[in-house]
Amino acid sequence: MNILIMGGPGAGKGTMSAKITEKYNINHISTGDIFRSEISNQTDLGKLAKSYMDQGLLVPDEVTNQMVKSYLEHLEDPKNGFLLDGYPRTLDQALAFNELSEGTALAIDKVIAMELDFSVLAGRITGRRLCKNCGEIYHLVTKAPKKEGVCDVCGGELYQRKDDTEESLKVRLDEYTKQTQPVLDYYDEKGLVRHINADQPIEQVWQDVQAALEME
Ligand code: AP5
Ligand code: ZN
Repeated sequence: MNILIMGGPGAGKGTMSAKITEKYNINHISTGDIFRSEISNQTDLGKLAKSYMDQGLLVPDEVTNQMVKSYLEHLEDPKNGFLLDGYPRTLDQALAFNELSEGTALAIDKVIAMELDFSVLAGRITGRRLCKNCGEIYHLVTKAPKKEGVCDVCGGELYQRKDDTEESLKVRLDEYTKQTQPVLDYYDEKGLVRHINADQPIEQVWQDVQAALEME
């Protein structure tokens, strides 16, 4: 099963992606995570991506499309499919991915749309903390670690993302409305989208996501 998860910044895509990929044994392909790993390895791609990401802007389509294509071509262990998290997020990316995947084993089966009011997102973004070591996602209020600043899973140090500021969030929301909303409409027309109310406790959202994935 190949799944696409969509939603605004802080909608809970990463939180659900961890659960989905574990339960269905599929690969997690998050373009945001790939860019962040390129940044921490100080590659040329990382340097380029950083200049956009820190401001909340999208990385140019050509760069992103090429990166995803190469990532999919070199997947070491293809598992039972994949979950694309954060890609495609412009109409150009959706068309490029369609060209690459249509009629092949890479075609998308379902799109999960995580929906919630923009007013909720600021609290999600500013309260988010991540484990430097294993990537586990926390929130100071809704999913606090047992010990402040320390990961429950691996004992790693928690950090805040550079683009998790109110200023950058405004730009990210604007990018989402202008560039990503049309992608959702594109997949809706194909009848692939399952709409999820993402403004519920994490466990309830997870129940709804599983029901949507298991429904024909
Ligand atoms: P990316 O990494 O994809 O970030 P994003 O889309 O802004 O989404 P987030 O990771 O911020 O949020 P999320 O939905 O995963 O929420 P999470 O589960 O963490 O992209 C970052 C940047 O990379 C982009 O701005 C762009 O520059 C670049 N980029 C990436 N892909 C690109 C592409 N295709 N093209 C061009 N550029 C690209 O949850 C958020 C918080 O809320 C957490 O603290 C969590 O614990 C909490 N939470 C989650 N669910 C709930 C719940 N149900 N109730 C209460 N709290 C919850
Ligand atoms: Zn950890």
